[in-house]
Amino acid sequence: MAFSLLVPASVFLLALFCRHGTALQQLTHDDGCVHMPIVHSTNVDYFSSKRGVQLQLANRSDIAYYAQLSIGTPPQPVFVQLDTGSFELWVNPDCTAVTDSDAAFCEQAGQYDTTKSSTAASLGTNRTLRYGIGTANISYFTDTITLAGSPTTLQAVQFGVATVSEDAFSGILGIGYGKGVATRYLNFVDQLRAQNATRVKAYTLALGSKDAQEGVIVFGGVDTSKFAGPLARLPVLPADQSPDGVPRFWVDMQSVSITPPPNGVGRVYEGSGMPVFLDSGSTMTLLPPNLTAAIAGNFGARTADDNGFYRIDCALARMNGTLDFAFDGVTVKVPYKELMREVPTDPPACFLGIMASEKFTLLGDTFLRSAYTVFDLETDSIWMAQATDCGSSPAALNSVQDLSSVTGACGLSDLADSASGTLVPSSDPESIDGGGAEPTRSAGSEASGTVAGSQDTGRARLTSGTSRCFGSGVGLALSLGIVLVLHIFS
Ligand SMILES: *[C@@H]1O[C@H](CO)[C@@H](O)[C@H](O)[C@H]1NC(C)=O
Ligand SMILES: *[C@@H]1O[C@H](CO)[C@@H](O)[C@H](O)[C@H]1NC(C)=O
Ligand SMILES: *[C@@H]1O[C@H](CO)[C@@H](O)[C@H](O)[C@H]1NC(C)=O
Ligand SMILES: *[C@@H]1O[C@H](CO)[C@@H](O)[C@H](O)[C@H]1NC(C)=O
Ligand SMILES: *[C@@H]1O[C@H](CO)[C@@H](O)[C@H](O)[C@H]1NC(C)=O
Ligand SMILES: *[C@@H]1O[C@H](CO)[C@@H](O)[C@H](O)[C@H]1NC(C)=O
Repeated sequence: MAFSLLVPASVFLLALFCRHGTALQQLTHDDGCVHMPIVHSTNVDYFSSKRGVQLQLANRSDIAYYAQLSIGTPPQPVFVQLDTGSFELWVNPDCTAVTDSDAAFCEQAGQYDTTKSSTAASLGTNRTLRYGIGTANISYFTDTITLAGSPTTLQAVQFGVATVSEDAFSGILGIGYGKGVATRYLNFVDQLRAQNATRVKAYTLALGSKDAQEGVIVFGGVDTSKFAGPLARLPVLPADQSPDGVPRFWVDMQSVSITPPPNGVGRVYEGSGMPVFLDSGSTMTLLPPNLTAAIAGNFGARTADDNGFYRIDCALARMNGTLDFAFDGVTVKVPYKELMREVPTDPPACFLGIMASEKFTLLGDTFLRSAYTVFDLETDSIWMAQATDCGSSPAALNSVQDLSSVTGACGLSDLADSASGTLVPSSDPESIDGGGAEPTRSAGSEASGTVAGSQDTGRARLTSGTSRCFGSGVGLALSLGIVLVLHIFS
């Protein structure tokens, strides 16, 4: 569900950093597999005409993650927020209904004009969609949709065109369950499968670390260069057994623990086993108030501010500690830096990426950046591993059964070796407050560092996206996965 932060809180001002963009993939056939080079957003050949947009969108940072869709005939490009926690696609947020800085972003995200598309058809029905943050009144239409850089054109996809919205600065691409489960019609993910753009109803989300500056979503496939080892399979809890009765990606979390920097004493949080849902549409992770308070206390924050944010020392971002989320068969270690929201105000302000909620327990972007996650809507499973990054090798799946034998191409040494503190259950933890108040980095150095650094990263990716394929080469040569690249920095 959409829980992305708007920018009302004076705390956040204009300073939220993010980059998202679009990708151009060229399919090449080699050794019986399909791999798609990724063009980085700093590739001027492709992005120069959009550079202004890139810079604007870059301000949105780790607040939310977007994909670009082209809707209609001729195609009209719009950015939509990727949301595993909702089910429907809609566009055309009311940009006059958000604050100034959000309005500027909102306009850059693009609008779709039904009257300018020869293939648009109104279904004559309306609906109100409500999110954790925001609402939209939509009218349903069908039209063709192409994915940036993909050869696939989906025909007559149903989606909403907003007539009015509140607290929404882009449209939303809900990639949760569709027809027969959460919607009465084939949603976007259903259509990819139904129109043979993918062979399986499954997709992989690897948002990427803040430093990686890019992430990837592969519809119908995996990217084995984003994790090491096997994938753990977690059953999705049926809606009737889930806390809110909604068919989201609910899984059982066994525990949350903290592994402080070397020499610190770790702690397993009491009563931290609970169902949680995976929600890319939420900037923050939401946990029960007492658990959140216990974690915040270990980060040196006693109380939340008026907006519910726990302010913490920016120096923590440089420390080699992790917050560890354990599931059956996999523990995802989230480095402090990834868990934190670093806002480049002057001086910089940092916040814990977890907020208290009585209502929801969900793992948002502050968790998902550190996880490699396959959402398998065929066998109702989440396949999960610790995220890492050793290149790019997107590959299509012929069958979701293959996920049990897919192994990450990265070495274990690619995983950040940050967990060398001792971990013991404890109810009386030492504070791990970082001490020094020196800013991690200034807004200025962040911006300039990104431009120089990301270009190199992009080149490295292009050349390393070679022949890492899995399974039998024969089937793979014919099957396609669809890859969107999310460009991110923070
Ligand atoms: C985005 O960032 C750029 C460069 O830091 C800045 O000049 C611009 O004012 C920002 N725009 C918004 C809407 O925050
Ligand atoms: C749907 O909303 C549109 C725009 O607000 C309105 O013109 C139309 O009458 C509504 N249709 C129905 C069936 O309520
Ligand atoms: C949105 O739709 C709801 C339910 O139909 C309606 O009550 C509300 O007035 C609509 N909002 C606006 C601003 O039209
Ligand atoms: C998808 O592929 C199946 C099996 O090859 C075929 O029966 C079906 O007609 C195809 N659907 C579309 C929309 O191309
Ligand atoms: C939070 O409260 C629940 C229910 O009262 C309890 O089971 C759990 O141990 C508490 N957790 C912490 C970290 O205090
Ligand atoms: C964190 O770990 C890295 C790699 O092991 C090391 O280079 C760095 O000095 C460590 N940082 C701190 C603050 O201990």
